[in-house]
Formats: sequence, C-alpha cells, structure tokens
Amino acid sequence: MRLPGLSATLAAFPALALAAPRDDYTQYVSLFRGTTNGGNMFPGVTPEPFSVIKIGPDVQASPPTDAYSGYLPPPGRVLGFSMMHESGTGGAPKYGVVSQMPVTGDVTYPAADLSQARKLNDTATVGYYQSTLENGVAVSLSGTAHAGMLQHDFTEVASDVAKNVVVDIGHFLSSYRGRGWGQGFAGGNLTVRADGGYQGSGIYNGGWNIAPNWTIHFCGTWDQPVTRSKLFKGNETTHSAASNGTASTISTASGNAGAVFTFDATTVTSRIGVSFVSPEKACRYVDDEIPPGTALDNVVAQSRKKWNDKVLSKIRVESNSRDDLVQLYSNLYGMHLIPSNRTGEQPFTSTEPYYDDIFTYWDLFRCSTALMHIISPVAYVEQLRSLVEIWRKEGWMPDARSSNWSGEIQGGTNADNVLADAYVKGVQGVNWEDAYMAMRKDAETTPPNNRDPRAPDSSTTVGRGALPDWLKFGYITPKFSRAVSRGIEYAANDFGLAQVAKGLHCKADYKRYLKRSRNWRNYWSSKQTSLNYTGFLSPRLTNGSLKYPYDPLACGGCYWTDPYYEVTPWEYTFAAGHHDMAHVLSLSGGKDAFVAKLEQMFVPGATKQNSQFNGTIINPGNEPSFTTPYLFNYAGRQDLSVKYSRYIARTYYNSGIGGIPGNSDAGAMQTWQLWNMMGLYPMTGQNVFLIGSPWFSSMSLDLEGGKSLTIKSAGGDLTKGVFYVQSLKVNGKKWKQSWATWDDLFANGGTMEFKLGPKAVNWATGKLPPSPAS
Ligand SMILES: *[C@@H]1O[C@H](CO)[C@@H](O)[C@H](O)[C@H]1NC(C)=O
Ligand SMILES: *[C@@H]1O[C@H](CO)[C@@H](O)[C@H](O)[C@H]1NC(C)=O
Ligand SMILES: *[C@@H]1O[C@H](CO)[C@@H](O)[C@H](O)[C@H]1NC(C)=O
Ligand SMILES: *[C@@H]1O[C@H](CO)[C@@H](O)[C@H](O)[C@H]1NC(C)=O
Ligand SMILES: *[C@@H]1O[C@H](CO)[C@@H](O)[C@H](O)[C@H]1NC(C)=O
Ligand SMILES: *[C@@H]1O[C@H](CO)[C@@H](O)[C@H](O)[C@H]1NC(C)=O
Ligand SMILES: *[C@@H]1O[C@H](CO)[C@@H](O)[C@H](O)[C@H]1NC(C)=O
Ligand SMILES: *[C@@H]1O[C@H](CO)[C@@H](O)[C@H](O)[C@H]1NC(C)=O
Ligand SMILES: *[C@@H]1O[C@H](CO)[C@@H](O)[C@H](O)[C@H]1NC(C)=O
Ligand SMILES: *[C@@H]1O[C@H](CO)[C@@H](O)[C@H](O)[C@H]1NC(C)=O
Repeated sequence: MRLPGLSATLAAFPALALAAPRDDYTQYVSLFRGTTNGGNMFPGVTPEPFSVIKIGPDVQASPPTDAYSGYLPPPGRVLGFSMMHESGTGGAPKYGVVSQMPVTGDVTYPAADLSQARKLNDTATVGYYQSTLENGVAVSLSGTAHAGMLQHDFTEVASDVAKNVVVDIGHFLSSYRGRGWGQGFAGGNLTVRADGGYQGSGIYNGGWNIAPNWTIHFCGTWDQPVTRSKLFKGNETTHSAASNGTASTISTASGNAGAVFTFDATTVTSRIGVSFVSPEKACRYVDDEIPPGTALDNVVAQSRKKWNDKVLSKIRVESNSRDDLVQLYSNLYGMHLIPSNRTGEQPFTSTEPYYDDIFTYWDLFRCSTALMHIISPVAYVEQLRSLVEIWRKEGWMPDARSSNWSGEIQGGTNADNVLADAYVKGVQGVNWEDAYMAMRKDAETTPPNNRDPRAPDSSTTVGRGALPDWLKFGYITPKFSRAVSRGIEYAANDFGLAQVAKGLHCKADYKRYLKRSRNWRNYWSSKQTSLNYTGFLSPRLTNGSLKYPYDPLACGGCYWTDPYYEVTPWEYTFAAGHHDMAHVLSLSGGKDAFVAKLEQMFVPGATKQNSQFNGTIINPGNEPSFTTPYLFNYAGRQDLSVKYSRYIARTYYNSGIGGIPGNSDAGAMQTWQLWNMMGLYPMTGQNVFLIGSPWFSSMSLDLEGGKSLTIKSAGGDLTKGVFYVQSLKVNGKKWKQSWATWDDLFANGGTMEFKLGPKAVNWATGKLPPSPAS
C-alpha cells in the first residue's frame, strides 16, 4: 500500500481514512512531540498502552550519537526497523532488537552498511508510522501488544532490481557515549522455515542498567512467496530453505547474522511476534493477534480504537485551540508508552501481573504514578502488584528496571513513595502486608554492592546502598556518593513507610519511620548563604560538621559520585521535606522569608547554568524541581504557585517537536504539564492535591465505576495570562483551602468551579496544606 500525500494529517491518508469524528482524539496526538530538544520520545508505533511492541526505525546520525528511542530527526540514516524500544529515556539506548531492513539490488555483503537515508520526513499517527527510504522503498508499520506488522512497498523500485528484506539478529541500538553502558549482542540463531517464514532467538545485554544476558525470541511470516533466501554470518552466505522446502538454521556467537529474503512481489507484508518465553510463543502471538490476511489498515484502526477507548477519551475539554488540544492529548499518550506490560512473559513462575521497563520511579513518583491512578486505574494496580511480586521472587522491588533486570538506583527506593501514595488513597487489590514487607526490606537491609564503576561505593541495582550511614548517623557521610541527595530521598521514602505502618497499626514502626523521615533536617546549614539568602542543605561530614562554606549554586559535577545528583543544592533545598513543610518554613525564617527565597528560584540570570531556562536556578526539565513552583501554597501564597507554574507550563512546553523541556523521562514531563492543565498538583505519599489554576473552561475526567470529576473555570484567558484564582467551589461548597484530598475530588467524583481573573486575590484563607512530619 502506497500512501499518497505525505502530510502528517489524517485526512491525507485515504487508505486510513477512518472518518475523524469529534471523539477520535488520536487526531490531536503529535507523535513527534518531544523527539528533539533532548525529549527522546519514541514516535514509532506503540500499538496499545504499555504494549510490549514498540515498533519503529533505528536511526544513526553522523557523527554517531545515542538514539535513545531509536529515532533521530533527519538527516540520519535508517539502520533497520525493530520491534522493541524505550520512550523518553536517557543514560544509554536500550533494545532496538528484532529488526527488518528492506534492501534493493543484490545483497552480496549482508554485513556491510545497509543503512539508507530518508527521502521524505517520516510520518506518524497513533497506530501508524511510515518511512520512505532513498532506495525508493516505503515502509509502513503497525502492530498489536506482542506482534508487529511491517509493509515494504517496492513499487518505486525498478522491476529488474532485486527486492530484499534483511533480518539481522546482530542488530541493536548502540551507545557512543563511551561510558560502558552500551548494549551487546551475545549470540543467537535464526531458522528459515520450510514455509519461508523465520524464527529464532537473540541474546543481548548491557544498557544503562548494565543488565546481564537476556533472551528475546521471535517469529516472522511473509504474505508473499519468498523467491530466494540465504542465511548469513558476517559476509559469508549459504543458500537456504524456502526455495527447496526444508528448514535451515544459522547460529552465531557474535556479529551480524541472519537471513536475506528476496521477493518478486512489489508489496510484501510481514507479521512478527516476540516473546521472552520461546519462539513458539512468539508464533502464537502473531497468529492470535494478527491473523493471516489481516490488512494493515485494520491493525491501525484497532490500535486507534484501543488508544481512544483506554486512554484518550478519559479526558474531555472545551477548547478552540488545536495547539492546546495537541499538548493535552500528546501528554496523555506520552505517559502510557512505558512501563511495558509483560504479564505472561515474566522471568519467574507467577500468576501476578508483570511490568518491565520502569525508567524510572526516581522520575515518575512525583507526578506520573498519581495520575496513572486516576487515568488508568486497572493498569496502575497491576503495576503495584508487579512491584510486590518482583520483591517476592527476587527479594527487592525495583526503582528502575528493563530487560528483566533492576537498576539503576539514582537516589532512594522510590517504589516506597509510589506504594505509600496508593495506600493513603485507599487503593484496593494490593496485598498491603506484603507491600509493607517489601518497603521494610528497603528501609532496613543494605543491598549487596554490585561495584558499579560509575559509583562503586554501594549498590546501584536495588535498595538503599548508603543505608549503613543512614541508620548510624541519620545522614549520609561523604564516604558514600550522592550523600546529600540520597539522604533527602531516604527521608521521603521513610515517610512513605510511616504512612503505611500507621494504617497497618504498626505503631512502633510508624514512630520509627516518622522520626527517620525528619532526618533531611540533618543537612540544613543555617550558616550557609547564597545570593543573600540563608539556609541551605550542605554535605555533612563523619564528625558531624556541615561542610562550610559550600556554594549552594555548585554541585561538583552533579552526577553519580558527587554529593548532589543531577541538580544543585539550591534546588534540593526546595526538594527536601515535602512531608515536613511547616518545619522547612520555620528553618527558612517564616513565611515571608520562605516566599522571597523561593521566588529567587525563578529569577532569570541567577545562575550560569540552565541557559535553556533563561538562567533560572529552577530547572523545569528535571524532576527534583517538579514540586518547587507549587510550594508557595504552604506559605499562603497560592497566587504565586499559579503564576510560576503557569509560566513554566506555557513557556517551556508547546505542541512542537521540541515541545518538552528536556528528557521526557518515560512521560514524567508530560504528566507534570497535565497536572498543570487540571489546576492540581499531587503531593505523593500524602492524601493531598495542591490547588493551582485550570487551563480550560471545562475539563471532565472519567473515573472508575462511571464516576467523573468536572473542573470548570470562568473568566480565565490562557493566552492573555488571566489565570489568578478569585474563588473556588468544590462539590458546590465554597472552598478556602489551597488543597483538597482524594476523597474530596476522586473517590466519588465531584466538581470544582473556579472563578479566574487578571489580579491575584487572597482567596485561600483556610487551613494550610498539612505537614504531617512537623
Ligand atoms: C562485509 O563486507 C563489507 C563490504 O566489503 C565490509 O565493509 C564489511 O566490513 C564486511 N563485514 C564483515 C563482518 O566482514
Ligand atoms: C522535515 O523535518 C524537518 C524538521 O525535522 C523540517 O525542518 C523540514 O522542513 C521537514 N521537511 C519537509 C519536506 O517537510
Ligand atoms: C552471555 O551469553 C553468551 C552466549 O550464551 C555466553 O557465552 C556468555 O558467557 C554469557 N555471559 C554471561 C555474563 O553470562
Ligand atoms: C537458539 O538460541 C536459543 C537461546 O540461546 C536456544 O535456547 C535455542 O536452543 C537455539 N536454537 C537453535 C535451533 O539453535
Ligand atoms: C535445501 O537447501 C539446504 C540448504 O542449502 C540443503 O541443505 C538441502 O540439502 C536442500 N534440500 C534439497 C531437497 O535440495
Ligand atoms: C531474569 O532475571 C532474574 C534475576 O533478576 C534471573 O533470575 C532470571 O533467570 C532472569 N530470566 C531471564 C529469562 O532472563
Ligand atoms: C496486561 O497484559 C495481560 C496479558 O496480556 C492482560 O491480561 C492485561 O489485561 C494487561 N493489562 C492491561 C491494563 O491492559
Ligand atoms: C546582597 O545584598 C547586598 C547588600 O544589600 C547588595 O549589595 C548585593 O547586591 C546583594 N546581592 C545579591 C546577589 O542580591
Ligand atoms: C570536622 O572535620 C572537618 C574537616 O576535616 C573540620 O574542618 C571540622 O573542624 C571538624 N569538626 C569538628 C567538630 O571537629
Ligand atoms: C525565557 O526563555 C523563553 C524560551 O526559551 C523565552 O521565550 C523567554 O522570552 C525568556 N524569558 C526571559 C525573561 O528571558
């Protein structure tokens, strides 16, 4: 199928012209949003939310650079189209396995560079992707949960030129950063079956989480007769199967290997299944999910329907701005690509759900998991159960995980925060006694050191590596890397334990962990000043002294072996003690001093860093700063939370391909902006949503059991900056608090009615948001 008129709009694809009715929200999803500007979004086909299959192109730039999701914008050359990817991640590329590459002319050297530039820009809509290569071949992609579909259209290729598809098991996404986090291929095999199809297995390892060997099995079919096929290992080829009706196999320990399939037909469609269990299971997936004879546009239509039904239709707004609708629905889409639902594919015997590709809870615990609870409650509970089951089988819950291997731990054990958040909101369906035991393991047992070269002092795979110091001193000494940032996270993790212990009536534990949750205070240096503000978190030495002076604008390299991971002491000073805010305010010298210091975070040019953010100290592109703009609510200045969070949401996000401020981090950025659109912000681990200002005059969210939350606003103007809350009613009652609970908004559904205006007024005169540890 050749799709004429390669404009990115749906209307331009007659073959796919599902009428685009009002309730086809896929028309507002921009697949390329966040593919530049470091967003690393995967624009290929994710056939359904959390599907194992993420089928897309693997592109190499010149000079080579890491393509974290496989895709890179033009120019770049396509190396192949493969079945598995991550989305919106950093560190190092992962997957890019089980590939096909259309090649024209005789393939004398299958291990030669077979890459192709693109003739046109790639196009993509939900459920569909197309690349047109310089050799004239147009490749269209779609798929289902465990099977991909590739259609190679050779119509533009001269009739006397050979039309081939190369399947190379040695293909995967490489890393060029030189950090030792690159993937490797440890061998595999491919059998060309007597029917011309193929199946086999590949073993890969490495990636950001330095995973050991893992095996993926595959099963491919063709809808057209294979005229010739040959197996290859490096450039050595042997004629095989297909032509004579016998199966033949190639095995390799390394390097490129696989098969070259040659066709007479001008359009060749392939269905390919993948499985972590066996090639036979991969074959069953193909035939169950994409039966022989299924047309590509049917697969595309099914994928769109799934996205509409399961995710996109859950939020409906009133808006005349296509731009805002694109941001809204691209966010909803972008938060549902990973983790991957690998239920039935787990590496251990289990009847529990299994989710892999958690990348990472360090990124996701603030905004994403709390929103997943609302938008995709079934998948959310499955993810929580999966965490607990991984602890049952392997002894530890992951903070991050891919290819069946946990790691890396950047700070604390943030699955604790995720579980605590679910617990305080009354989530059912999780075995909470087991969940609490899993959390307790994190809090009490030092994990074995895997001696990761990037931070050899303690475990980077699971658990809290710096626990010995935490237990002994109540802070982490410079003997351990990331000593300050890990302490801040351990305190939040311990608060999570306290919350669950309280509910489970473990009184002693509740007291123990609540006390430990205050240990972030041990880093507070009331002497330290910066930009005329006083009081910052500083490294604390073994003898108990705080390091002084210590420039709060500096963090060493802000990386694995430094005291602060990824952001500066200024930023961590506002990222600490979110369960202890009354104490933060008191240490900061009271409300006014706190507000003045917090406003300094948003002053352009205050730091030489963050040039992409006008030199503000706050880095809206990194998770430790996610909550910062909303902290004004704790000082009775809800108007300033609205002002600064709205500024970030409208300045550094847009609907374009670079429309996310930095790495999406598995959708974390998208969820931050979604909360801003709703006019709410979740305080993970507490039953508290801070109130901001909604974008739309009406937003309706479908909740479980046919309930809904409707958020209405009158008098606002998104484009003219008219966004200050004048008054609010919640469920018809006048509301004077700058926060609400799960029960107020979500447990039974409800309404929020905002009046907005151009000037700040002091409407939130009720009780401040809670500070449970203060
Ligand atoms: C295969 O042949 C090509 C073309 O001669 C060459 O560039 C490539 O290095 C060879 N690869 C191997 C593994 O021999
Ligand atoms: C292709 O995409 C690039 C951005 O990646 C854009 O600058 C260019 O105009 C596009 N070309 C066409 C023909 O649409
Ligand atoms: C990875 O798998 C290959 C092939 O089976 C094997 O030779 C190698 O020893 C394995 N590596 C590890 C670390 O297990
Ligand atoms: C292919 O490799 C897999 C994984 O190592 C192995 O289990 C299987 O037996 C091999 N099959 C053949 C036909 O060599
Ligand atoms: C088919 O091809 C395979 C691989 O070259 C060869 O081993 C086999 O003998 C051939 N079978 C027949 C019936 O020609
Ligand atoms: C998955 O990883 C676990 C350890 O984390 C290991 O025990 C198991 O063998 C692995 N399974 C596969 C299929 O890779
Ligand atoms: C996850 O995958 C399993 C197995 O395919 C399926 O039964 C389950 O419904 C999936 N979960 C969701 C939320 O779709
Ligand atoms: C700090 O205060 C001093 C004295 O008021 C003033 O001269 C200086 O400019 C201030 N520095 C900053 C960075 O605001
Ligand atoms: C702790 O050690 C630091 C660095 O060696 C030193 O500067 C400081 O004076 C010591 N503090 C105490 C209380 O001994
Ligand atoms: C901040 O940066 C944005 C985009 O990078 C730009 O549009 C805006 O004008 C800048 N604002 C200031 C105050 O420099």
